Amino acid sequence: MRITVVGLGYVGGVVAAGFANAGHQVLGVDVDRRKVLSFKEGAVPFYEPGLAELIEKGLRAGTLQFCHPDEVDKLWEGVIFITVGTPSQPYGGTDLSQVYAAIRWIKERNCGHSVIVMKSTVPPGTGIRLIEEELSQTELTYVANPEFLREGQAIHDWFNPSRIIIGARDKDSAELVKALYQNIKAPILLTDITTAEMIKYAANAFLATKISFINEIANLCDRVGANIDEVSQGIGLDPRIGTAFLRAGLGYGGSCFPKDVRALEFLSSLLGCNLELLRAVINVNTKQRLLPIQRLFELFPSLKNVEVAVLGLAFKPNTSDVREAPALDIVRLLVELGASVRAFDPQAMEAARPFLPAQVKMPSSIMETLKGAQAVVLVTEWPEFIELPWKEVAKVLVKPRAIFDGRNALDKEKLLSLGFLYCGVGRQGGWIKPER
Ligand code: UGA
Repeated sequence: MRITVVGLGYVGGVVAAGFANAGHQVLGVDVDRRKVLSFKEGAVPFYEPGLAELIEKGLRAGTLQFCHPDEVDKLWEGVIFITVGTPSQPYGGTDLSQVYAAIRWIKERNCGHSVIVMKSTVPPGTGIRLIEEELSQTELTYVANPEFLREGQAIHDWFNPSRIIIGARDKDSAELVKALYQNIKAPILLTDITTAEMIKYAANAFLATKISFINEIANLCDRVGANIDEVSQGIGLDPRIGTAFLRAGLGYGGSCFPKDVRALEFLSSLLGCNLELLRAVINVNTKQRLLPIQRLFELFPSLKNVEVAVLGLAFKPNTSDVREAPALDIVRLLVELGASVRAFDPQAMEAARPFLPAQVKMPSSIMETLKGAQAVVLVTEWPEFIELPWKEVAKVLVKPRAIFDGRNALDKEKLLSLGFLYCGVGRQGGWIKPER
């Protein structure tokens, strides 16, 4: 099959490489010339483990090509995936301008009976509107095929999806898209277009709800002296609940959960059936990132000139993505309160720099970042941080050697035995004094 992929971000890059790897002829296009050049050279302009290797394989096999939209006069007849961004509007709705631009570009390129497959996350109802407003005078058909790829694990998720959702109006288009996934073992659910769109939002909203739920329980654990790690395990063993997404911490970030939960909440308000639960999920998540500051205030009456090392800027490990990352808010707030901040991330320093105040220092090593710090705030649980030589770290920190573990990722007992003051999220009540 001939496949065009419009938009080469975290999703489009994987879709293009994945289908090229299955032997399809794939053309990836993007309006960002630098991105196109980078993909052409087999380099990925962002950090996604395994993607560069897959791209290179496709380029070598001759099944994968990249170009700028201006270089294409006529598109292949076949399948055209739309994988452009759908960011938040300031009021919480979804900015569909890139989707409309992609559809119009496709329409102008005379591609016969092609099937447009929407992989971008678009609010329920969008597909039908696009068909009626944009596609009714064309031979193009439309299928909704939401993605469930996690950044940092996208290649694994591509080859091992939990399910494939195909929302279509006509059977032929649905079957054509279904055939594209024939080499992948996963349950396939055929639905109508709006249902497929809703599945995507409901899935993200549910996972975000789990996170906010466990964070609220963690905050209560701190008050009553219970241990959230064991609470998560204890409730997760019930198969009706499940252990996934019950890791308490500083809340969710990234390019998906925050915007999708907001968009669903906005849509519900617009349609007059306010989803109160989602409002709470958003509020809990927004407040959760204040936790390190609240905890530091318990140690320092003022944060003015307090030396703080922030470990982790990406919204989660294994990505360079800092969109809606809790670390950005935490660093900005620390600086506003007068703290002297050094920050480190194994992959996201460059991406984070434009969003951080100039006075934030970003040393080139973790140890340099830690040197002289009175307090350490772990925001992203990169293995590099978990596996630090903590005995050495103890020597470079200065009193009170406070570690705020915002992801409950560190070995509390070990840190206490090494003389650190430790505080997790819901790990039995605030700051715990070292053993010696
Ligand atoms: C999420 C979904 O997991 C994917 O299925 C979906 O395709 C994607 O959004 C999307 O809509 O495109 P992603 O944003 O890459 O994927 O990241 P996740 O691994 O889901 O984590 C999201 C956030 O939740 C991170 O900030 C993470 O630190 C946080 N999280 C996750 C927790 O705080 N606790 C947990 O137990 C799990």
